Amino acid sequence: MRNIAVIGAGQMGTGIAQTVAAHGMQVMLSDVDLATAEAGKGKVEKALVKLAGRGKIEADEAEKLLSRITPVADYSPMTDADLIIEAATEREEIKNAIFEAAGKVLREDAIMASNTSSIPITRMANHSPDPARFIGLHFFNPVPVMGLIEVIPGLATAKATTETVTAFAEGLGKEVVLSQDEPGFVVNRILLPMINEAVFVLGQSTAGIEDIDKGCRLGLNHPMGPLQLADFVGLDTCLDIIKVLYKTTRDSKYRPAPLLVKYVEAGWLGRKTGRGFYDYTGEAPVPTR
Ligand code: 3HC
Repeated sequence: MRNIAVIGAGQMGTGIAQTVAAHGMQVMLSDVDLATAEAGKGKVEKALVKLAGRGKIEADEAEKLLSRITPVADYSPMTDADLIIEAATEREEIKNAIFEAAGKVLREDAIMASNTSSIPITRMANHSPDPARFIGLHFFNPVPVMGLIEVIPGLATAKATTETVTAFAEGLGKEVVLSQDEPGFVVNRILLPMINEAVFVLGQSTAGIEDIDKGCRLGLNHPMGPLQLADFVGLDTCLDIIKVLYKTTRDSKYRPAPLLVKYVEAGWLGRKTGRGFYDYTGEAPVPTR
Protein backbone atom coordinates (compact mmCIF):
# COMPACT_ATOMS: atom_id res chain seq x y z
CA MET A 1 0.00 0.00 0.00
CA ARG A 2 1.33 3.42 -0.91
CA ASN A 3 -1.52 5.89 -0.53
CA ILE A 4 -3.61 5.99 2.59
CA ALA A 5 -6.48 8.34 3.40
CA VAL A 6 -7.42 9.12 6.98
CA ILE A 7 -10.82 10.68 7.66
CA GLY A 8 -10.95 12.47 11.00
CA ALA A 9 -8.09 14.67 12.20
CA GLY A 10 -8.63 14.26 15.93
CA GLN A 11 -6.46 12.45 18.47
CA MET A 12 -6.71 9.07 16.72
CA GLY A 13 -6.71 10.28 13.11
CA THR A 14 -3.60 12.40 13.56
CA GLY A 15 -1.83 9.59 15.42
CA ILE A 16 -2.69 7.20 12.57
CA ALA A 17 -1.52 9.75 9.97
CA GLN A 18 1.78 10.22 11.83
CA THR A 19 2.39 6.48 12.13
CA VAL A 20 1.54 5.75 8.50
CA ALA A 21 3.73 8.63 7.25
CA ALA A 22 6.55 7.44 9.52
CA HIS A 23 6.48 4.18 7.56
CA GLY A 24 7.05 5.91 4.22
CA MET A 25 3.48 6.00 2.91
CA GLN A 26 1.62 9.06 1.61
CA VAL A 27 -1.32 10.17 3.76
CA MET A 28 -4.32 12.30 2.83
CA LEU A 29 -5.87 13.72 5.97
CA SER A 30 -9.41 15.08 5.96
CA ASP A 31 -11.96 16.41 8.42
CA VAL A 32 -15.10 18.55 8.27
CA ASP A 33 -13.15 21.23 6.39
CA LEU A 34 -9.64 21.99 5.17
CA ALA A 35 -8.80 24.20 8.16
CA THR A 36 -9.56 21.35 10.59
CA ALA A 37 -7.48 18.93 8.50
CA GLU A 38 -4.62 21.44 8.46
CA ALA A 39 -4.92 21.88 12.23
CA GLY A 40 -4.61 18.08 12.47
CA LYS A 41 -1.36 18.18 10.54
CA GLY A 42 -0.30 20.96 12.93
CA LYS A 43 -0.80 18.56 15.85
CA VAL A 44 1.50 16.03 14.20
CA GLU A 45 4.08 18.76 13.66
CA LYS A 46 3.87 19.70 17.34
CA ALA A 47 4.44 16.06 18.37
CA LEU A 48 7.43 15.82 16.02
CA VAL A 49 8.97 19.05 17.34
CA LYS A 50 8.71 17.56 20.83
CA LEU A 51 10.32 14.30 19.68
CA ALA A 52 13.09 16.18 17.85
CA GLY A 53 13.73 18.27 20.97
CA ARG A 54 14.29 15.04 22.89
CA GLY A 55 16.57 13.67 20.19
CA LYS A 56 14.10 10.92 19.21
CA ILE A 57 13.89 11.98 15.57
CA GLU A 58 16.26 13.87 13.25
CA ALA A 59 14.95 17.23 12.01
CA ASP A 60 15.19 16.22 8.33
CA GLU A 61 13.42 12.92 9.01
CA ALA A 62 10.62 14.82 10.79
CA GLU A 63 10.37 17.19 7.84
CA LYS A 64 10.12 14.30 5.36
CA LEU A 65 7.50 12.58 7.49
CA LEU A 66 5.45 15.77 7.62
CA SER A 67 5.74 16.33 3.87
CA ARG A 68 4.04 12.96 3.32
CA ILE A 69 0.85 14.19 5.08
CA THR A 70 -1.46 16.20 2.83
CA PRO A 71 -4.54 17.83 4.34
CA VAL A 72 -7.43 17.63 1.88
CA ALA A 73 -10.67 19.62 1.75
CA ASP A 74 -12.95 16.78 0.63
CA TYR A 75 -12.98 13.13 -0.44
CA SER A 76 -12.39 13.66 -4.17
CA PRO A 77 -8.57 13.09 -4.05
CA MET A 78 -9.19 9.76 -2.28
CA THR A 79 -9.69 8.02 -5.63
CA ASP A 80 -5.89 7.57 -5.30
CA ALA A 81 -6.17 5.83 -1.92
CA ASP A 82 -5.41 2.12 -1.56
CA LEU A 83 -6.96 2.23 1.90
CA ILE A 84 -9.34 4.72 3.49
CA ILE A 85 -9.32 4.69 7.30
CA GLU A 86 -12.22 6.38 9.02
CA ALA A 87 -11.31 7.78 12.46
CA ALA A 88 -14.18 10.19 13.06
CA THR A 89 -16.33 10.74 16.15
CA GLU A 90 -17.67 7.53 17.70
CA ARG A 91 -21.25 8.09 16.45
CA GLU A 92 -22.71 5.60 14.06
CA GLU A 93 -24.70 8.13 11.99
CA ILE A 94 -21.57 10.28 11.45
CA LYS A 95 -19.51 7.24 10.40
CA ASN A 96 -22.22 5.91 8.08
CA ALA A 97 -22.48 9.28 6.32
CA ILE A 98 -18.70 9.20 5.81
CA PHE A 99 -18.76 5.66 4.36
CA GLU A 100 -21.50 6.67 1.95
CA ALA A 101 -19.75 9.86 0.80
CA ALA A 102 -16.19 8.50 0.66
CA GLY A 103 -17.53 5.26 -0.79
CA LYS A 104 -18.42 7.17 -3.95
CA VAL A 105 -14.71 7.68 -4.71
CA LEU A 106 -13.39 4.34 -3.34
CA ARG A 107 -11.57 2.51 -6.13
CA GLU A 108 -12.77 -1.02 -6.96
CA ASP A 109 -9.55 -2.52 -5.62
CA ALA A 110 -9.33 -0.31 -2.52
CA ILE A 111 -10.32 -1.09 1.07
CA MET A 112 -12.34 0.93 3.55
CA ALA A 113 -11.62 0.52 7.26
CA SER A 114 -13.13 1.95 10.42
CA ASN A 115 -11.18 2.74 13.57
CA THR A 116 -14.38 2.36 15.58
CA SER A 117 -13.86 1.38 19.20
CA SER A 118 -17.06 -0.60 19.49
CA ILE A 119 -19.68 -0.12 16.76
CA PRO A 120 -20.47 -3.37 14.88
CA ILE A 121 -18.46 -3.67 11.66
CA THR A 122 -21.05 -5.87 9.94
CA ARG A 123 -23.71 -3.19 10.38
CA MET A 124 -21.53 -0.28 9.20
CA ALA A 125 -20.28 -2.29 6.21
CA ASN A 126 -23.72 -1.92 4.64
CA HIS A 127 -23.08 1.81 4.27
CA SER A 128 -19.91 1.19 2.26
CA PRO A 129 -19.93 0.35 -1.45
CA ASP A 130 -18.70 -3.22 -0.90
CA PRO A 131 -18.95 -4.99 2.51
CA ALA A 132 -16.37 -7.54 1.28
CA ARG A 133 -13.82 -4.70 1.24
CA PHE A 134 -14.87 -3.21 4.58
CA ILE A 135 -13.14 -4.03 7.90
CA GLY A 136 -12.44 -2.80 11.44
CA LEU A 137 -8.92 -1.55 12.12
CA HIS A 138 -8.75 -0.46 15.72
CA PHE A 139 -5.71 1.55 16.82
CA PHE A 140 -4.78 2.46 20.39
CA ASN A 141 -3.91 5.86 21.77
CA PRO A 142 -1.23 7.22 21.47
CA VAL A 143 -1.04 5.50 18.09
CA PRO A 144 2.67 6.09 17.42
CA VAL A 145 3.55 4.49 20.77
CA MET A 146 1.06 1.66 21.32
CA GLY A 147 2.09 -1.70 19.92
CA LEU A 148 -1.34 -3.17 19.12
CA ILE A 149 -3.90 -2.99 16.35
CA GLU A 150 -7.12 -5.00 16.48
CA VAL A 151 -8.32 -6.29 13.10
CA ILE A 152 -12.06 -7.00 13.01
CA PRO A 153 -13.60 -8.59 9.91
CA GLY A 154 -17.36 -8.25 9.63
CA LEU A 155 -19.59 -11.08 8.48
CA ALA A 156 -19.19 -10.12 4.81
CA THR A 157 -15.49 -9.15 4.89
CA ALA A 158 -13.47 -11.09 2.31
CA LYS A 159 -10.51 -13.14 3.52
CA ALA A 160 -8.27 -11.18 1.13
CA THR A 161 -9.32 -7.91 2.82
CA THR A 162 -8.40 -9.28 6.25
CA GLU A 163 -5.04 -10.50 4.96
CA THR A 164 -4.20 -7.21 3.21
CA VAL A 165 -5.13 -5.12 6.23
CA THR A 166 -3.26 -7.42 8.63
CA ALA A 167 -0.12 -7.07 6.49
CA PHE A 168 -0.60 -3.28 6.46
CA ALA A 169 -0.93 -3.20 10.27
CA GLU A 170 2.16 -5.37 10.74
CA GLY A 171 4.01 -3.13 8.28
CA LEU A 172 3.42 -0.29 10.75
CA GLY A 173 5.47 -2.26 13.27
CA LYS A 174 2.42 -3.25 15.31
CA GLU A 175 1.23 -6.61 16.59
CA VAL A 176 -2.23 -7.68 15.43
CA VAL A 177 -5.02 -9.27 17.43
CA LEU A 178 -7.80 -10.66 15.29
CA SER A 179 -11.22 -10.20 16.88
CA GLN A 180 -14.65 -11.37 15.90
CA ASP A 181 -17.20 -8.61 15.37
CA GLU A 182 -18.59 -8.67 18.91
CA PRO A 183 -19.37 -5.58 21.04
CA GLY A 184 -16.17 -3.83 22.19
CA PHE A 185 -14.07 -6.40 20.31
CA VAL A 186 -11.38 -7.69 22.71
CA VAL A 187 -9.60 -4.83 24.45
CA ASN A 188 -12.39 -2.29 24.98
CA ARG A 189 -14.74 -5.08 26.12
CA ILE A 190 -12.31 -5.51 29.01
CA LEU A 191 -11.09 -1.91 29.46
CA LEU A 192 -14.38 -0.02 29.51
CA PRO A 193 -16.02 -2.03 32.30
CA MET A 194 -12.85 -1.35 34.33
CA ILE A 195 -13.02 2.41 33.72
CA ASN A 196 -16.80 2.42 34.34
CA GLU A 197 -16.32 0.49 37.59
CA ALA A 198 -13.64 2.95 38.70
CA VAL A 199 -16.22 5.74 38.27
CA PHE A 200 -18.74 3.75 40.36
CA VAL A 201 -16.04 3.36 43.06
CA LEU A 202 -15.53 7.14 42.94
CA GLY A 203 -19.27 7.88 42.89
CA GLN A 204 -19.80 5.66 45.95
CA SER A 205 -16.93 7.46 47.74
CA THR A 206 -15.10 4.18 48.31
CA ALA A 207 -11.91 6.09 47.49
CA GLY A 208 -10.86 9.37 45.94
CA ILE A 209 -9.58 9.95 42.41
CA GLU A 210 -5.89 9.82 43.27
CA ASP A 211 -6.20 6.67 45.39
CA ILE A 212 -8.21 4.81 42.74
CA ASP A 213 -5.52 5.61 40.18
CA LYS A 214 -2.68 4.92 42.59
CA GLY A 215 -4.26 1.56 43.44
CA CYS A 216 -4.24 0.44 39.82
CA ARG A 217 -0.84 1.92 39.02
CA LEU A 218 0.95 0.37 41.97
CA GLY A 219 -1.28 -2.63 42.62
CA LEU A 220 -1.65 -3.74 39.01
CA ASN A 221 1.37 -2.14 37.38
CA HIS A 222 -0.78 -0.20 34.91
CA PRO A 223 1.05 2.82 33.47
CA MET A 224 -1.98 5.02 34.17
CA GLY A 225 -4.84 4.61 36.64
CA PRO A 226 -8.33 4.10 35.12
CA LEU A 227 -9.55 7.65 35.78
CA GLN A 228 -6.39 9.19 34.33
CA LEU A 229 -6.75 6.86 31.35
CA ALA A 230 -10.42 7.84 30.96
CA ASP A 231 -9.36 11.51 30.80
CA PHE A 232 -6.73 10.53 28.23
CA VAL A 233 -9.22 8.62 26.04
CA GLY A 234 -11.93 11.27 26.50
CA LEU A 235 -14.90 10.82 28.84
CA ASP A 236 -17.37 11.28 25.97
CA THR A 237 -15.67 8.45 24.05
CA CYS A 238 -15.67 6.25 27.17
CA LEU A 239 -19.39 6.92 27.66
CA ASP A 240 -20.13 6.26 23.98
CA ILE A 241 -18.35 2.89 24.16
CA ILE A 242 -19.94 1.71 27.41
CA LYS A 243 -23.35 2.76 26.01
CA VAL A 244 -22.74 0.64 22.90
CA LEU A 245 -21.81 -2.33 25.11
CA TYR A 246 -24.95 -1.79 27.21
CA LYS A 247 -27.26 -1.30 24.22
CA THR A 248 -25.95 -4.17 22.12
CA THR A 249 -25.73 -6.78 24.90
CA ARG A 250 -28.57 -5.49 27.11
CA ASP A 251 -26.44 -6.75 29.99
CA SER A 252 -26.83 -4.52 33.07
CA LYS A 253 -23.18 -5.01 33.99
CA TYR A 254 -22.40 -2.42 31.29
CA ARG A 255 -24.78 0.29 32.57
CA PRO A 256 -22.93 3.62 32.51
CA ALA A 257 -21.85 4.96 35.91
CA PRO A 258 -24.13 7.96 36.68
CA LEU A 259 -21.10 10.07 37.60
CA LEU A 260 -19.54 9.43 34.18
CA VAL A 261 -22.76 10.67 32.55
CA LYS A 262 -22.66 13.78 34.79
CA TYR A 263 -19.06 14.63 33.87
CA VAL A 264 -19.92 14.36 30.18
CA GLU A 265 -23.06 16.47 30.67
CA ALA A 266 -20.90 19.09 32.39
CA GLY A 267 -18.64 19.17 29.35
CA TRP A 268 -15.75 17.85 31.45
CA LEU A 269 -14.43 15.50 28.82
CA GLY A 270 -10.85 14.97 30.03
CA ARG A 271 -7.55 16.29 28.79
CA LYS A 272 -8.95 17.71 25.56
CA THR A 273 -11.23 20.15 27.42
CA GLY A 274 -8.71 20.88 30.18
CA ARG A 275 -10.88 19.16 32.78
CA GLY A 276 -12.12 15.65 33.43
CA PHE A 277 -11.46 13.70 36.60
CA TYR A 278 -8.37 15.89 36.81
CA ASP A 279 -7.96 19.60 36.06
CA TYR A 280 -5.19 20.10 33.50
CA THR A 281 -5.12 23.89 33.39
CA GLY A 282 -2.23 24.26 35.87
CA GLU A 283 1.31 22.88 35.81
CA ALA A 284 0.36 19.45 37.15
CA PRO A 285 -3.02 17.67 36.99
CA VAL A 286 -5.19 18.26 40.08
CA PRO A 287 -8.06 15.89 41.02
CA THR A 288 -11.49 17.51 40.67
CA ARG A 289 -13.11 15.78 43.67
N1 3HC B 1 5.06 9.92 18.51
C1 3HC B 1 6.08 9.09 18.71
N2 3HC B 1 6.53 8.74 19.93
C2 3HC B 1 5.91 9.29 20.99
C3 3HC B 1 4.83 10.18 20.85
C4 3HC B 1 4.40 10.48 19.54
N3 3HC B 1 3.35 11.30 19.29
N4 3HC B 1 4.42 10.55 22.10
C5 3HC B 1 5.23 9.90 22.96
N5 3HC B 1 6.13 9.16 22.31
C6 3HC B 1 7.16 8.30 22.88
C7 3HC B 1 8.13 9.06 23.72
O1 3HC B 1 9.19 9.58 22.94
C8 3HC B 1 8.60 8.04 24.71
O2 3HC B 1 9.59 7.21 24.09
P1 3HC B 1 10.77 6.50 24.95
O3 3HC B 1 10.07 5.50 25.82
O4 3HC B 1 11.62 5.89 23.90
O5 3HC B 1 11.41 7.60 25.72
C9 3HC B 1 7.38 7.14 24.91
O6 3HC B 1 6.54 7.37 23.77
C10 3HC B 1 6.63 7.46 26.18
O7 3HC B 1 6.26 8.83 26.18
P2 3HC B 1 6.44 9.81 27.43
O8 3HC B 1 7.77 9.59 28.12
O9 3HC B 1 6.10 11.20 27.00
O10 3HC B 1 5.27 9.46 28.41
P3 3HC B 1 5.09 8.30 29.45
O11 3HC B 1 6.27 7.48 29.70
O12 3HC B 1 4.42 8.97 30.58
O13 3HC B 1 4.04 7.36 28.70
C11 3HC B 1 1.97 6.74 27.76
C12 3HC B 1 2.88 7.89 28.16
C13 3HC B 1 2.62 5.94 26.63
C14 3HC B 1 0.67 7.39 27.24
C15 3HC B 1 1.73 5.82 28.98
O14 3HC B 1 1.29 6.58 30.05
C16 3HC B 1 0.73 4.72 28.70
O15 3HC B 1 1.06 3.69 28.16
N6 3HC B 1 -0.57 4.94 29.09
C17 3HC B 1 -1.62 4.02 28.80
C18 3HC B 1 -2.10 4.21 27.40
C19 3HC B 1 -3.24 3.31 27.05
O16 3HC B 1 -3.69 2.47 27.79
N7 3HC B 1 -3.76 3.50 25.82
C20 3HC B 1 -4.88 2.76 25.37
C21 3HC B 1 -6.10 3.60 25.55
S1 3HC B 1 -7.53 2.74 25.04
C22 3HC B 1 -7.61 3.06 23.41
O17 3HC B 1 -6.85 3.79 22.82
C23 3HC B 1 -8.73 2.40 22.68
C24 3HC B 1 -9.82 3.37 22.40
O18 3HC B 1 -10.74 2.75 21.52
C25 3HC B 1 -10.55 3.85 23.63
